[in-house]
Amino acid sequence: MDDVKIDIVEEIRRKTNIVDIIGNYISLNKSGKNYVCICPFHDDSNPSMFVSPDKQIYKCFSCGAGGNVFNFVMDYEHISFKEALKLLGDKVGIDTKINTVIKKKNNPIFECYEIITKFYENSLFTNKGRDALKYLNDRNITDEVIKEFRIGFSPNEDVVTKMLVSKDFSYDILIDMGITVKSDYGYKDFFFNRIMFPICDYDNKVVACSGRIFNGEVTSKYINTKETSYFKKGNLLYNYYKAREYALKDKYVIITEGFFDVIRCHIAGFKSVVATMGTAFTSEHVKHLKKLSTNIILLFDGDSAGEKATYSCGNILMKNGITPKVVRLPDNYDPDEYIIKYGAESFKKVMDNPISFIEFKLNYLKNNRDITKIQDLSNYVNDVIVELNEMQDQVMRDITIDKISLDLGIDKSIITSRLNKSPTKLKENVISSSVHIKNKYDKASYKLLYYMLNDIDIILMYQNRNVMFSNNLYRNLANEILYFYKNYGTISSASLITKLEDKKELIDLVLDIESMNYQEKYNREELDDCIEILKMETIEKEINRLNDLLKQELDITKKAEILNKIVELKKREL
Ligand code: UTP
Ligand code: MN
Repeated sequence: MDDVKIDIVEEIRRKTNIVDIIGNYISLNKSGKNYVCICPFHDDSNPSMFVSPDKQIYKCFSCGAGGNVFNFVMDYEHISFKEALKLLGDKVGIDTKINTVIKKKNNPIFECYEIITKFYENSLFTNKGRDALKYLNDRNITDEVIKEFRIGFSPNEDVVTKMLVSKDFSYDILIDMGITVKSDYGYKDFFFNRIMFPICDYDNKVVACSGRIFNGEVTSKYINTKETSYFKKGNLLYNYYKAREYALKDKYVIITEGFFDVIRCHIAGFKSVVATMGTAFTSEHVKHLKKLSTNIILLFDGDSAGEKATYSCGNILMKNGITPKVVRLPDNYDPDEYIIKYGAESFKKVMDNPISFIEFKLNYLKNNRDITKIQDLSNYVNDVIVELNEMQDQVMRDITIDKISLDLGIDKSIITSRLNKSPTKLKENVISSSVHIKNKYDKASYKLLYYMLNDIDIILMYQNRNVMFSNNLYRNLANEILYFYKNYGTISSASLITKLEDKKELIDLVLDIESMNYQEKYNREELDDCIEILKMETIEKEINRLNDLLKQELDITKKAEILNKIVELKKREL
């Protein structure tokens, strides 16, 4: 923040309304003076975050995320303070004079992947890449699309490792990345003669590559660079960054299984589309998808593996509070094959008619069961009852019961008599203070600090009356408040938080204190009591310290001195 003036920072903060900014990213519900929402920084389906328009701060009681508008934008967008400042400055028309391209620090791994990706991209359009290019064109992937997705080709010769070593990358890094393998004959490239797909992280930096065979070889269809701290299949989604551009206005996001499915959907006009890259779908994926849209359409392969994947992916989404829609394709087709065979128009129709995940699930549970047989039917009904008991939406539950009993030709009461009285209750709003203040000293400190954060009179009182917080953390915060006031002649938690920068402990304390339900205006007598209590605490701590000293002291006269001091202090305590 050093070279940006605090006035600009404050001006931008004052001109933005945290409720509008956060409301642009996630949906907020009014609750009393504040707004509540589902926290986007941890897996949850219950609202555990509050946003305060009065104080211009937010806080999650479950995971502890919180801060002012800058913190939210930094965390949500994964950007630096300067980048957040620029982003918000642009919104309110204040020139921050910061020329930030949103980019990560120079990390050799990112740099390395970028070089590799460019190399593969070029190779595809050289003579060596002729067959690979033909393969792609034959699959109706045009040169334009190839460039858009940065598809490339790894030639049938050992060049990449040599090229990177000549650019001063160490063999160790290259091996760690999975670009190079070590053999008895030395170092060799990992990818030979494959069509290369770069895989990007959530900020669009290439963090891995996947290579596909294309000329009928019988080795693994796709091979990937190694998992690193930047690339974990369970964390990333193929095409996320590009999808995001469209998702925000199209208000849906499609999940598919493969690279070609993503690319084909994109060509067919469904551009808000990602893929799981052949691994399990995780809560980590959900966290990121939620940022695009909660209107999620599962478009997995038409085969039974795809059906199974739909089932487990849908369940994970449900656990995270999202009921997805499902599109099932006929005849074991994957989306790519379906679009190639029937065309984009037909595909659009299919996409216009998704079923709800609930409906999919009820069908799925029927698989491999012959419901004309009593045993199978009763197993099925039992499974359905489990599902119904988990359904939060009453209307949906009632409609489902009607439909099922009709479909199965059984009496509704068979189902209803076995249901819980009301659906499993959503956890009560956890919007109450997370703080369990242990003792009267903490209580007094919190109260005093609260009013210091909200009223300059109390800052002056703190200064004039020589209040001592014996707890380091409280004392540090009080000093920060005082310092801020002296510099800027004012105080507010939201602006103090900006100044506290990376003093996370202090920011957390501010947020904790601000989430207490104290009266708006201080009560003088109450604060006097608080100050008394704090003074007592200081004395008590001193007595304890002297007592410890007393135990260790061997010299009789010194012992007597300490004892005297203790007696003096005890008198003051009364
Ligand atoms: P698919 O085999 O469905 O891929 O595997 P695809 O995109 O439809 O490829 P084509 O159409 O046959 O060319 C789905 C995803 O699983 C991962 C890849 O990410 C692939 O896109 N996968 C698949 C692997 O990592 N390794 C494999 O051997 C196969
Ligand atoms: Mn395919």
